[in-house]
Order: sequence, then C-alpha cells, then structure tokens
Amino acid sequence: MLKFKNKKSFRQIYLIMILVVSCLLILSIYSDSQDKEADNSTTQNNNAPTTTNENGQPKYSLSKASSPWVIVNKKRPLPQNYVPELVNPNVPRTGSPTSENMMLSPVASSKLEELFKQASKDGINIRFASGYRSASTQAGLYNSYVTNNGQTNADKFSARPGHSEHQTGLAADIVSQTNYCYLEQCWAETKESQWLADNAHKFGFAVRYLQDKQNITGYDYEPWHLRYFGVQLATELYKSKLTAEEYFNLPPAPNYN
Ligand code: DAL
Ligand code: ZN
Repeated sequence: MLKFKNKKSFRQIYLIMILVVSCLLILSIYSDSQDKEADNSTTQNNNAPTTTNENGQPKYSLSKASSPWVIVNKKRPLPQNYVPELVNPNVPRTGSPTSENMMLSPVASSKLEELFKQASKDGINIRFASGYRSASTQAGLYNSYVTNNGQTNADKFSARPGHSEHQTGLAADIVSQTNYCYLEQCWAETKESQWLADNAHKFGFAVRYLQDKQNITGYDYEPWHLRYFGVQLATELYKSKLTAEEYFNLPPAPNYN
C-alpha cells in the first residue's frame, strides 16, 4: 500500500491522475470523430458545394436572361429580342471571327478558351462552330429546317426563335477539326466528343441535350451542344447525369405551350 507524506501530496497525485484520464478521454473522442468523417467521405462528400442558398433556393436566377443559370426551353422563352453582352473567344473556329455566331458572353468565352487550351494539351483537335444567335438568325435557321424537314422533325433539333440557348450567348456547338460527323449524333463516338463529355464540366460547361432525355429537354441528343453554367453547377450536372430541368425540379419541356 502506497504511503503519502501528507494529505497535500496525495491531492496532487490525485489531480494529476484525473488530468491524465481526461486527456485520454478527449483523445479517444477526437479520434473516433475523425474515423466517422473518413467513413462519411466514402459515401457522401460533405464538402460538396451547394447550389442552393440559405433559403433552399438556387443561388442564381433560373429566369433572368443574363443569369448563368437561366433555363431556356420550349416552356421557358427568353424576353423578346434579348441580346447579351458579347465577345469573340480566341479559339480555333469554323467561321470568320467577325460573324455573329462566333461570339459568346464574356464569361462563357473565357472559359471556352481555357477548355480549348486543355483540349489541345490533351491532343484533342476541336473547333468552335456556333455560339450566339440572335432571335432573327434563329428564325431563319428554324424556318429553313421546317421547309426541308417538316415542322415536327425540325422541332426535335432546332429551337423556335426566342427559345434557343444560343440567344443567351452561353451555348457553344463544338466540332472536330476534321468535320467528321459534323453536328450529327455519330460524333458521340469520336474521341473529341468523349473528351468533352468527360472534361467540359471542369470549365463550367454541360452537355445540355443528353441521350434519352428528349421528353424532358425537348430535343434529340446533341453531344456537340455545350451550355455554360459555371463550374459548380456543371459539375453537379455531370456527376448526377441529370438535365438542368431535372436538377432544379422544373417541369419537363417536350413541346411548346
Ligand atoms: N439545337 C438547339 C436545340 C437550338 O436550336 O437551340
Ligand atoms: Zn447548339
């Protein structure tokens, strides 16, 4: 049996023991919580960026034409004759730099330049084929498709004026340098298309008209049509494989009202 010189030294040893036990207890709780965080990270990313604000609403407007998250479809027209701010992206292109459809909104333009730089580093040779289209340009295009293909068919691949994402300056059609399967679904099989499908979100772009989602987006699969949403939303769409309508619980837009 231990003997203490006096009551004071007994109290000191007693206090030290309590301190040591408390430290051990705190250490064990901390390491347990670290394990739990590690477990969670395999099933859910707690640091995933949230696309909603504190009120549970989307961070950017889905309705304002100039918003990076504006959703335009057969049920959601743009304001008549809306024209965004426009610049020329410095990327390999199919048309003359001065032509209207070689322009994009400034933010989409600078991110497209970054995307093209990375594509080139990765040995992917692509060109920018179509960006901004005014409502009147879209009307001309749509009418020619109706004349050549009939309205039912035209509506599957061409937006009516006032309903095209191209009018926002946030959409870009991309093709191969070789023009192989130029704006055709067979382009999906090319390494250029596959590179875009895997990488576009890193630069804020999403493949907008996904395969087998015609009943939601209103259009056939368009592997070449990229829409700028910003890196956060584009990454969420890429990971979830959802259309923008599904992601935001908006009504499907298979046809016009
Ligand atoms: N091709 C797409 C749907 C457009 O015309 O905007
Ligand atoms: Zn397009």
